[in-house]
Amino acid sequence: MRILLISAFFYLFFNSCNSDNKDTNPVAVQPKAPVAIEAANFTEISFTANWNSVVGAQKYFLDLSNKVDFSSFVFKDREVSDIKYSVSSLTKASDYYYRVRAFKDGAYSKYSNIIKVTTLGIGINPNVNLKDKVNGDFIVGVAVSSDKLSGQYNTVISNEFSSVTAENEMKMRSIYTGPGQYNWAPVDKIVDFAVSKGINIHGHALIWHRSIPDFLDKFTGTDLEFENLVKQYIFDVVGRYKDKIKSWDVVNEAINDNGLFRDTKFSQRMGSNYVEKCFKWAREADPDCILFYNDYGTGDNIPKQNAVYKLIKDMAVNHTHIDGLGFQMHITYNSPSLSQLQIDLKRALDENLKIHFSELDIRMNSDSSPITSFTDDRIQLQRAKYKEVVQLFKTIPKSQRYGITMWGLKDNESWIPGEFGRPDKPLLFDDNFIRKLTHTGFLEGLE
Ligand code: G3I
Repeated sequence: MRILLISAFFYLFFNSCNSDNKDTNPVAVQPKAPVAIEAANFTEISFTANWNSVVGAQKYFLDLSNKVDFSSFVFKDREVSDIKYSVSSLTKASDYYYRVRAFKDGAYSKYSNIIKVTTLGIGINPNVNLKDKVNGDFIVGVAVSSDKLSGQYNTVISNEFSSVTAENEMKMRSIYTGPGQYNWAPVDKIVDFAVSKGINIHGHALIWHRSIPDFLDKFTGTDLEFENLVKQYIFDVVGRYKDKIKSWDVVNEAINDNGLFRDTKFSQRMGSNYVEKCFKWAREADPDCILFYNDYGTGDNIPKQNAVYKLIKDMAVNHTHIDGLGFQMHITYNSPSLSQLQIDLKRALDENLKIHFSELDIRMNSDSSPITSFTDDRIQLQRAKYKEVVQLFKTIPKSQRYGITMWGLKDNESWIPGEFGRPDKPLLFDDNFIRKLTHTGFLEGLE
């Protein structure tokens, strides 16, 4: 009997150890963290949170908050067996944040990245104009053409915008038709329109390698003669519109996408310090003009970003100070990320530059996620990106805010579809001058 009791004791003891082993894996390997991805199925009160699966994960735990730092929760550790979860009973036009972690064999992964979602909001607001909402805080502009300033163009531009930029007609190729010869007519038309409306004019662009007139491109004179033609051009154009055109993109896109100084007719004929020379001449032509360097793609292209700030600093060492930096902002609904834009913007703010989001348009279609139809999800993501970009601009100290300029009025006149060879609707107004949810997103960013 005694042997029976002792053996029963040892059997139970080892069993309990084994059963403990079953529940608490002593060497649990922490699974990889999931990657949270864009939400879907937006409504005013719901959306679907999505993430990528983690190999071996038996389940996931989802957190939802209306605070980016998750200092409070809508819910925490919601157990989910799938790689998506539909959230409902939310508040309209509100920001939410979700993150997720995987669970495998008793161990939790680290948290995923955070996805921000904005539930559908106020819808298309028929009564609030962009410039009224901005209320003089900074300029809100649009790229225009001299043949599109009457009728509904006149109405919408006058009502919604406080600034205009010529999409093409203030470029050298349009104005400079020969030595001492200028095509002023379209420029005068845009300037006269804006002045008559009390609208700001931003000049774009004195020097751009993609807009060199043929006579200059094929010029056979000496480098000094070439340089004098460029110098004379800058003095003549800036001088003509002094006190009317309050700011200029003096040089556009001098840095290549690989981060090297772009090899252009200007650098070849005037030397690598041509940028500095052009800023000096523009400054001399109109000391009161706000002078910008303008470029694109620095948010998610660090070599290019570094090269732009090196250019600016190098010129400053030679006491050639630029006033502002134009971020063209030809972006997509999901790229660059907010943090990439913030990092780039901070570098410009640290240089004490004025900031112009100078050519804003936000593509719904993209190489990484092409679409064949403009789904509601993608429309909402584009709207949210407009809101995010405008909110980002409003984080700029007031003294450094120049403005935000849309690169076109109506979707069917955007350069994007022709450039990228696929349909897109990147702007704030549809083909019939009707406001879109992107206009709503812009307004929401101004809240
Ligand atoms: O005016 C001529 C017309 O007479 C001719 O029949 C037609 C067909 O060849 O071409 C017309 O000129 C076109 C011009 O736009 C006006 O529509 C040019 O070919 C075309 O290349 C030009 O494209 C512009 C592009 O810059 C190049 O200048 C786009 O509209 C404009 O949106 C785009 O804007 C640039 C910014 O200036 C700088 N940042 C990048 C941005 C996008 O490329």
